[in-house]
Amino acid sequence: MIEKRRERKDQHIENYLKSQSLTNNLLEDIYIEHKALSDIAIDEIDTSIEFLGRKIAMPIMVNAMTGGGEAGADINEDLSSICESLNIPMAVGSEAIAIDDEESRESFTLLKDKDLIKVGNLGSERSIEDFTFAADLIGADIMQVHLNMAQELVMPEGDKDFRGIRDNIKNLSENFATPIIVKETGAGISKEVAKDLIDLGVKYIDVSGKGGTNFIEIEDLRDMDTDFSELYNWGIPTAKAIIDVRSISRDVFIIASGGLRNAMDVVKSIIIGADMAAVSGEVLKYLLHGGYMACESYLKDLNDKIKIIMCLLGVKNIEELKKVDYKIVGRLKELID
Ligand code: FNR
Repeated sequence: MIEKRRERKDQHIENYLKSQSLTNNLLEDIYIEHKALSDIAIDEIDTSIEFLGRKIAMPIMVNAMTGGGEAGADINEDLSSICESLNIPMAVGSEAIAIDDEESRESFTLLKDKDLIKVGNLGSERSIEDFTFAADLIGADIMQVHLNMAQELVMPEGDKDFRGIRDNIKNLSENFATPIIVKETGAGISKEVAKDLIDLGVKYIDVSGKGGTNFIEIEDLRDMDTDFSELYNWGIPTAKAIIDVRSISRDVFIIASGGLRNAMDVVKSIIIGADMAAVSGEVLKYLLHGGYMACESYLKDLNDKIKIIMCLLGVKNIEELKKVDYKIVGRLKELID
């Protein structure tokens, strides 16, 4: 059983690299305008933000991916070193495996000695005891509570009963000592779900929308006897999810994720309502195809390119970036109420 879980973790990575990910996050339907007269020097542009009381270098975190499997320890070691050197937060993948499998714990505990904001991860059905264990395992500053119905439903061994999750999230937000982020895993958070989450006391939401990593496809590729291709396009495009969640609350902290690949994606996400962006798949590709240095350069370049775009928009910091005007065009315009 434990062997199987480790294997599954490795298959997720392999199948992510094989997946086509042809869906669209619709950030291309956000139009922002060039400002030819910008009274600004690129050196005075500041992309830092404050997150959980700590100043971080840019509004980006590496999002949840792995731990536990064969490859997990190496990936988490590299990603946590890169995030430490760049001063950005990092989330580990689901720590559920570490609750039952002592040997897998090392791939998470290695974060403990690192000087960065550490984000733990468990499913929304887990108890406060499990969350406390998972938070302690990495010394978490905040815990992600993941929602992954789409993945569970197409995974033969996955959960098929989602009753009680609201009550559990309420309990976690009221009684668990560490703050929580409720996150999707690539199918997006709707306006209605965000309203529910905020009513349950949730203060941080990662919309993790459609347009990038596709867990329906990743799971489908694990089993050649199944064909779920008609569901590959399921989900709320990331751009719509950000706009919808922001439309119901000015205060909730929104993390944009789901198919964010480049600086333009990050900038647009922030303009339409996100406080921070998170990247998983693209970071993993750079690390596994290019290696440590390529992955670090990719993230450094993101920051440099965000500054270039901010200069073109005539804004000096992230608070000013949030106030930039935008227009919604095309398919996204049709979808937004
Ligand atoms: C993930 N993701 C994920 N999320 C989560 O909450 N717990 C997890 O264990 C995992 N595992 C995982 C493995 C791999 C290989 C990938 C690529 C992703 C989902 C991830 O955090 C994010 O929500 C989505 O991947 C969407 O972002 P990207 O990949 O499109 O940037």
